[in-house]
Amino acid sequence: MADPVIMITGATSGFGEATARLFAKNGWKVIATGRRKERLEELKNTCPDGTIYPMQMDLMDHDSIIAGVKNIPDEFRPVKCLFNNGGLALGSKPIPDAPLKDWRVMVETNIMGLVHTTQELIPMLKQAGRGASIINVGSIAGRYPYPGGNVYGSSKAFVRQFSYELRTDLAGSDIRVTSFEPGMAKSEFMKVRSYGDGDANEKFYEDVEPILPEDVADIIWFLATLPPHLNVNSMELMPLIQVPSIPTILRKS
Ligand SMILES: NC(=O)c1ccc[n+]([C@@H]2O[C@H](COP(=O)([O-])OP(=O)(O)OC[C@H]3O[C@@H](n4cnc5c(N)ncnc54)[C@H](OP(=O)(O)O)[C@@H]3O)[C@@H](O)[C@H]2O)c1
Repeated sequence: MADPVIMITGATSGFGEATARLFAKNGWKVIATGRRKERLEELKNTCPDGTIYPMQMDLMDHDSIIAGVKNIPDEFRPVKCLFNNGGLALGSKPIPDAPLKDWRVMVETNIMGLVHTTQELIPMLKQAGRGASIINVGSIAGRYPYPGGNVYGSSKAFVRQFSYELRTDLAGSDIRVTSFEPGMAKSEFMKVRSYGDGDANEKFYEDVEPILPEDVADIIWFLATLPPHLNVNSMELMPLIQVPSIPTILRKS
C-alpha cells in the first residue's frame, strides 16, 4: 500500500516543521508548504529521502495555492490529511491603535488562506477515502479575549466555527474535521508578532514551561491516525502554567 500523505501549511517553522519531521520519520509522505524556500529545502535535506515535497506557497495569494496544488506530483497524491497550520499574529496594540494593514494580513492569512487551501484540497481528501482528515489550527485566543488580541483572536474564532461548518457540510463523506486550539507555545510566533524581534520572543518564554512544537506534532499524529470512525471536533490544549481565568473586573479603585 502507498505511504499516506499529509499536506502541512506553515512547515518552515514551529508546529508545522515539527509535525513534518515526525510524520516523515514515521512513514508518511509530507507536502511541506510555506514562503521561505530555503527552509523548505533544509527540511527536505534533513528528512528521510523521498519523504518531503517542498511547495513554496503564500497563503495570502490564492493563485499560488491553486498552482501549488495543481503541481503536486503523483507520488504525493492523494492527500490523506490536511494540516491547516500556517498563520500568524501581527502586533499587540489594542483597538483602535492597531494598524489596519496588520489586520488585513491576519485576515488574508488565517482566514482566507485556510479557506482557499481547504477548498482546493477537498477533492483529493475525498479520493483518499476512509481515515482522511482536516486539522485546523485555531487558538485559545479564539475563545478567551485578551488585550491586544482583537483581530488575531477573531480570526481564530472564525477557524473554530469554520471547522464545525465544514464538518457539517462534509457529513456523509469520509473526511474528519478537527479544530485544534492551543495556548502558549514556544515557536517563532512572538518573533513574528513583534515584527522580527527575536529578543522579545525569548523574553516572552522566560521562566515558563510552554507547549513545544514537538508536543503539538505528537497531538497531530494522534488525531491523524485515530480509527476512521472517530472525529475529535475540537481540542483545546494549554500548558499547565496557563489557566483559563475568570473574566476581568474593573474596580473603581
Ligand atoms: N505559538 C503559539 O503560542 C500559538 C498558539 C495558538 C495558535 N498558534 C497558531 O499555530 C500556527 C503555527 O504557529 P507557530 O506557533 O508554529 O508559529 P511560527 O513558528 O511563526 O510558524 C508559522 C508558520 O506559518 C507560516 N506562514 C505565515 N504566514 C504565511 C503565509 N502568508 N503564507 C504561507 N505560510 C505562512 C510560516 O511560514 P513562512 O513564514 O515561511 O511563510 C511558518 O511556517 C499559527 O496558525 C498560529 O496562529 C500558535
